[in-house]
Amino acid sequence: MGTDIETVKQAALAELKAAQDLKALDQAKVDYLGSHGKFTALLKSLGSLPKEERPAAGKRINDAKLELEAALTARREDLEFKAAIPKEATDFTLPGRRRSVGKLHPLTQVTEDIVRVFRKIGFVVADGPEIEDEWHCFDALNTPADHPARDTQDTFYVDGAAQSSPGKAGERLLLRTHTSTVQIRVMEKQPPPIRIVAPGRVYRRDNADATHNPTFQQIEGLYVDKGVTVGDLKGTVEFVFGELLGEEVKIRFRPHYFSYTEPSFEIDFSSPLVRKMGKDWLELAGCGMVHPQVFENVGYDPEIWTGWAFGFGIERIAMIRYGVNDVRLFYENNVRFLQQF
Ligand code: DAH
Repeated sequence: MGTDIETVKQAALAELKAAQDLKALDQAKVDYLGSHGKFTALLKSLGSLPKEERPAAGKRINDAKLELEAALTARREDLEFKAAIPKEATDFTLPGRRRSVGKLHPLTQVTEDIVRVFRKIGFVVADGPEIEDEWHCFDALNTPADHPARDTQDTFYVDGAAQSSPGKAGERLLLRTHTSTVQIRVMEKQPPPIRIVAPGRVYRRDNADATHNPTFQQIEGLYVDKGVTVGDLKGTVEFVFGELLGEEVKIRFRPHYFSYTEPSFEIDFSSPLVRKMGKDWLELAGCGMVHPQVFENVGYDPEIWTGWAFGFGIERIAMIRYGVNDVRLFYENNVRFLQQF
């Protein structure tokens, strides 16, 4: 029996080694280890041995089988590697295949650039939820209950009620109509001084046209300290947009009304592109000095603290910067458009 095992094993090993391809290897496997294979026959013949010889013979067969299986695996890896080698010579001087690399959406690029400029002058980024309660979107911003933005025709209300806005659980929920909500959230959480910018998505029931879309991006700014003036506001805005849009862009402040600032302004931009669009000025932002009532609403003493705030539409800045004349292009995800930025 012992010599049989050794003979069959040697024959099997020789055949595995001789197999020139995977098919031959498989055949060798069947010949020896298959259900009618020579090795299997040895195993079956164990039964005819005297009882006392069986354990030793069984062990030898198993050892040999393990050895065979290892040899089989090694040979298979060898043959598979050979099969994978290209049959023809490779020309290593051919240019490689490039994968096209994605890039940031132009609106993201503009947002990051604005944030970068504000960081230079000590602002940090703050964030707030897109599903808001009426307190943070309106009441805390001194926006009266009869303001048109609070009308369900103007605003996307959602089912459900606020769980935990401070003392305001049960408030109606809506998709925020502006990023000014973040002013309130930040002031409720921390004492002055404050220097934040808050970029983010906002929602309004607008019909889409060349300059409107029901979803768009804003960036909010809030600066609170002692002795802050309109001069600080104007200087900051001029610095940031000079950095961002270059010298050719002109900025003007026009008196306006917002319930959360007093005095309030709108900021208009003028540039060669704006003039090409047939306008002298394009309105880009609202801003003003934080209304004392807003400070009261978040528990700041308006006798001590002063501040300014602004909210810019990011799409419009991107339009001026890149010379895009229809805001809807930013949302269509047409790669031929997006590739240009
Ligand atoms: N929230 C205003 C809007 O969406 C923009 C705005 C105006 C923001 C004045 C401000 C501000 O912070 O002070 O139209």
